[in-house]
Amino acid sequence: MHYLETAVEIAREAGALLVNCYERRVPFELKGEFDLVTEADRASEKLVVERLRSHFPTHAIVAEEGGGHESSSGFTWYVDPLDGTTNFAHSFPMFNVTLGLEHAGEMIAGVVYDPVRQEMFTAERGAGAYLNNRRIRVSNVKGLADSLASTGFPSRKRHHNVNIHFYYQLAMASHGVRRTGSAAIDLAYVACGRLDFFWEFGLKPWDMAAGTLLIQEAGGRISDMKGARHHITGSDHLLADNGHLHDEVIQIFDEVFAGQFRVPMPPIA
Ligand code: IPD
Ligand code: CA
Ligand code: CA
Repeated sequence: MHYLETAVEIAREAGALLVNCYERRVPFELKGEFDLVTEADRASEKLVVERLRSHFPTHAIVAEEGGGHESSSGFTWYVDPLDGTTNFAHSFPMFNVTLGLEHAGEMIAGVVYDPVRQEMFTAERGAGAYLNNRRIRVSNVKGLADSLASTGFPSRKRHHNVNIHFYYQLAMASHGVRRTGSAAIDLAYVACGRLDFFWEFGLKPWDMAAGTLLIQEAGGRISDMKGARHHITGSDHLLADNGHLHDEVIQIFDEVFAGQFRVPMPPIA
């Protein structure tokens, strides 16, 4: 049914719209205390939803800014029209548009498009993961001590986020932990081996939909942060890794969940 080809076409069009807004430096508004939104989020969502509805009128759409559409077809598109809004609003060039299609409880197609670098990450269930049409695979890093990671800190309810404890322990155990400000890019970068693992609390289905399929199709592993089976609508915390690092990372997560810290935070004075 050309799901992936259509998603790629739509992502490219939405990406061009985002770059246009980025160059015009459109202002931001607050939709929560620290949660930014711009005209670009809304315009990109409108475009993506309109295109999806005209190509696949029977499919359901779940989109971050609320422009979705219900249906009982069994096909659901998850859309983040602008992932990385805080970066975007500050002219920090790291953001993307991402679309993922679920059928019968499984992601079957997904796209993460970074329009600044013109990098199109794509995956279809059973057919591999690609970056600009070239096959990608997760890294072959076998030990946490040799790895590079990424994590994120959501803007919604950020006072309740305990991730700083996990961040510190994982940063001490690896080559470092990046914070790109864009969860879909983090997942795409694990899929192509630029990062070895990624985790975050408080993610939404549209942040993870396409990226989790990219990881699986690139040979990586997805679980929740307790090591259990993950589903994008069932769990808002996620670990994505190259498959080799899973046990070592989960071991540290288990310790932090239990309040045990391998490396104490240094005193200030
Ligand atoms: C956010 C970004 C960020 C992550 C947040 C997300 P948004 O998405 O992916 O990296 O840390 O959890 O909410 O709001 O820019 O679409
Ligand atoms: Ca968004
Ligand atoms: Ca997002």
